[in-house]
Amino acid sequence: MYYITTDVRAVVRLTKFVMRITKTKLCCRLQFWSNIVLSMQQILCSVKLSNIAYLDYAATTPCDPVVFEAMSPYFCGVFGNPNSMHHFGMVALDAVDAARIKVRTLINADFEEVVFTSGATEANKIATIRTMKSLNKTAGKRHFVTLATEHKSILDCTDYLKREGFDVTLLEVGSDGLLNLDHLTSVINDTTGLLSFCFVNSETGVMQDVKRIVATCHERGILVHADATQAFGKIPLDVKELDLDFLSASGHKVYGPKGIGVLYCKSVHARLVRTPGANRDVEFGIRSGTVPVPLCVGMGEAAKIAFSELSTNLTRIAALRERLIAGITGQLDEIYINGSSVHNYPGIVNISFRGCEGEAIMMEAKHIAVSSGSACTSNKLTISHVLEAMKIPVDIAQSSIRISIGKLTTEAEIDLAIEELVTATKKLRAISPVWDIIRSGSSVDDVFKRQGFR
Ligand SMILES: Cc1ncc(COP(=O)(O)O)c(C=O)c1O
Repeated sequence: MYYITTDVRAVVRLTKFVMRITKTKLCCRLQFWSNIVLSMQQILCSVKLSNIAYLDYAATTPCDPVVFEAMSPYFCGVFGNPNSMHHFGMVALDAVDAARIKVRTLINADFEEVVFTSGATEANKIATIRTMKSLNKTAGKRHFVTLATEHKSILDCTDYLKREGFDVTLLEVGSDGLLNLDHLTSVINDTTGLLSFCFVNSETGVMQDVKRIVATCHERGILVHADATQAFGKIPLDVKELDLDFLSASGHKVYGPKGIGVLYCKSVHARLVRTPGANRDVEFGIRSGTVPVPLCVGMGEAAKIAFSELSTNLTRIAALRERLIAGITGQLDEIYINGSSVHNYPGIVNISFRGCEGEAIMMEAKHIAVSSGSACTSNKLTISHVLEAMKIPVDIAQSSIRISIGKLTTEAEIDLAIEELVTATKKLRAISPVWDIIRSGSSVDDVFKRQGFR
């Protein structure tokens, strides 16, 4: 019901595709029928989910059918290895180059500054671990700085660097999730090599002041890496204007395929992140192995579409965010929007329904797909490390869910989310002991502390 527009679009695309393919007779029969089957599967899948509104676009996005169509010839028909010197290899290499140009256009990078990776996790790893190892070797810089609110993929690198004997600082953030530049200045020193920070936080949508962070670091000769996984293709991003040294992005967050990402590496820093023994012809010596041509093509197409739709999507998504927040706060009290109300990407809304547990809300609101930062495991309640670093009171943090809005989200889906969340909250609050404590005016934090939750 809620995916009706998507379904209709898929049917129209399928019809056009069939007409084109029949007219031109370009594909062999086998490919023709496999495409039909795949398209039908896509439609059936969306029909099956038709009464659930997907509001988890920060977790992943569906691959745009246009992206899928652009990729499909590169699995069977155009199958060459881009490293091969013959015709088949050249055709594949041309496709990878064209994809690289599309990505480069979106972020205003130079051609050789765009490196295809397996995803943002790998890009983060290359940018942080390899840079720190090189800087340590060549300049004795062994201090790495990042934020306590980073994505797990960066925190894993942080743990690794610690184990390898590097000095690591995890910066605190304010209750709005923003980095305090004075705090940054107070921790950096002559041995600091790199700062890595999340451009748009995946749980709260908080958007850091990139220009000021970069200026503060560059003044002291410190390089900067931005994990832009949740920003790439969603907000305007110009690596030259922002003067970033490294940036990571992922295909599956921007309606591209899973298993592909991008590392932007300023050309002067390429030597820092080269992998030993790699063929220089493959991703400029930064990555080894055969390039996954269809995935690169998909990443390029997704970047191209994102570039053309960026401002329209951003405006629509901002309006849907307002509708969602107004709809919920208009009907319920003790609702908290976690993170900066000014510096954010509107597509990610972290919202607390005080008195209820995040996971319980998710289970109750069955017709929406959202995610929760808290988890209840063996009688112990863990809260999101992001909200914890923002020092959000435990009872507010544990009642949070993340709603992420995408380009396919409709007003009807937002209205459904409002209805489901308001009903779920009222029902849960009616039986919630925490809600009773709040109502009685006692400090829930004190009660939680006594029970060992923080
Ligand atoms: C901020 C951030 N960084 C990194 C990643 C990892 O991305 P990928 O799945 O491409 O490895 C994610 C995915 O959720 C993310 O949100």
